[in-house]
Amino acid sequence: MIVVSSKSELRQQIKAWKQAGETIAFVPTMGNLHSGHISLVTEAKKHASKIVVSIFVNPMQFNNPDDLTNYPRTLEEDSEQLINEGVDMLFTPTPEIMYPKGLDVQTFVEVPGISDVFCGASRPGHFRGVATIVNKLFNLVTPDVACFGSKDYQQLQVIRLMVEDLSLDIKIVGCDTVRTEQGLAKSSRNGYLTPQELEVAPLLYQTMQQLAQDIRDGMAIEKAVNKATQTMNESLFITDYFHVQRADNLSKPTNEDKELVILAAAQLGFARLIDNLVFSR
Ligand code: PAJ
Repeated sequence: MIVVSSKSELRQQIKAWKQAGETIAFVPTMGNLHSGHISLVTEAKKHASKIVVSIFVNPMQFNNPDDLTNYPRTLEEDSEQLINEGVDMLFTPTPEIMYPKGLDVQTFVEVPGISDVFCGASRPGHFRGVATIVNKLFNLVTPDVACFGSKDYQQLQVIRLMVEDLSLDIKIVGCDTVRTEQGLAKSSRNGYLTPQELEVAPLLYQTMQQLAQDIRDGMAIEKAVNKATQTMNESLFITDYFHVQRADNLSKPTNEDKELVILAAAQLGFARLIDNLVFSR
């Protein structure tokens, strides 16, 4: 695996591959890799001859400085996993490389309508940071295909819209959420959970499944959401929200809309867990 942190080395290698007729699939990450990230690499291999992964803890998408400082950085273990997966190139830039002028004078990308609701409402500027870094990474890697997890459902939709609105010639592949046997979505933030909280954590997915069932059974959305919130708050969770939206554009569903998504966020100890469930009624 080639490991590069400078833009020029990255561009040189990409150019050589393209001249040789190779195609490129890209998996952007913030590292601390787990089986969820690896599933994206596995999917990426189906779409192109060369696989590029980036690891960059992007300061622009963090609105809490402590969260940025404490974000787990495990480059050595991550590299080993990527070598075992047969990844061709790992890009590990520093904040100075990605934002040489600093964050305050950086041009940004903002996808309107979808960036300041749900996850974006609780984390102002978060999706601007995500869209900006993903756009910069896309411009450097120039992939044919890029893989993202449905676990971050709103992020996936933000990126799909950005690609459409800015006419980027990149196929975005959304991948299923990888979970533990008990149903907890794999996440770097699960490392913040105590053993007791880890036992409670699968309740989030179980509650979303029950919420989907209640709506399929004809319960009004608001009533079903209140029931789900109560179930969660009777445990160690403090629910931030359950939203039931149209699966395609996250708008408010009418009675005719059949393809829905539950977006959920809840605090468990130090960790803010987010998850979602797509379902039909
Ligand atoms: P990060 O949280 O490291 O996630 C990188 C990718 O892995 C994202 O596409 C995310 O949706 C996916 N992922 C995480 N957990 C998953 C799981 N359990 N199952 C399947 N896929 C999973 O998301 C980011 O980084 C950043 O915002 C980034 C896009 C890299 C921009 O900085």
